Amino acid sequence: MPFIIAVDGPAASGKGTISRALAQHFGFYHLDTGLLYRATGAKGGDPIASAQGLCADDLTRPDLRSAEAGQAASRVAAIPEVRAALVDFQHRFARQDPGAILDGRDIGTVICPDAAVKLYVIASDQVRAERRAAELNADPGEMLEQLRERDRRDSERATAPLRPADDAAVLDTSDMSIDQAVARAIAIVEAAR
Ligand code: C5P
Repeated sequence: MPFIIAVDGPAASGKGTISRALAQHFGFYHLDTGLLYRATGAKGGDPIASAQGLCADDLTRPDLRSAEAGQAASRVAAIPEVRAALVDFQHRFARQDPGAILDGRDIGTVICPDAAVKLYVIASDQVRAERRAAELNADPGEMLEQLRERDRRDSERATAPLRPADDAAVLDTSDMSIDQAVARAIAIVEAAR
């Protein structure tokens, strides 16, 4: 049985950094599921057709990391048919030996409810805005507004809203260095192995 780690949380909480570090530490595969929604939004046209026709090349577009791509992603991510079109790929990815880490918003609740480990990574709005502003070389105040808008949309949508699974370990990275957050995540995974 492959070992599945689900990592969820709001934008810029640190879940991507933690997931990459876990993948390296344990030698597991890692999928940033946000990229699927970013690529769907960036393709334009009918989002359902875009999600159904998503291919590997779509995931390597250089503009997927922008704040605009994030907003477009969260709009298409509220469409149930878009989410449904991306489920199979995520399930197949999760079943790889020796294990897989998927990070996103609904991994522990919807995509992999039986994951061996579920992390829900959070950080204060202020800290997240500062992190994202540094990453994108943008204004923290503007980032704060955008993150809040995106979190609101992600949390309030009817299908697979952002929320912690009942059995998720909550990791607040507000006052942690990257090394501290990664060490804590590794300890949680070790305890479950
Ligand atoms: O994680 P990232 O910021 O790249 O995600 C972009 C958007 O994709 C999120 O704001 C969210 O709307 C959507 N998303 C989702 N479910 C996931 C991953 C991302 O709805 N599992």
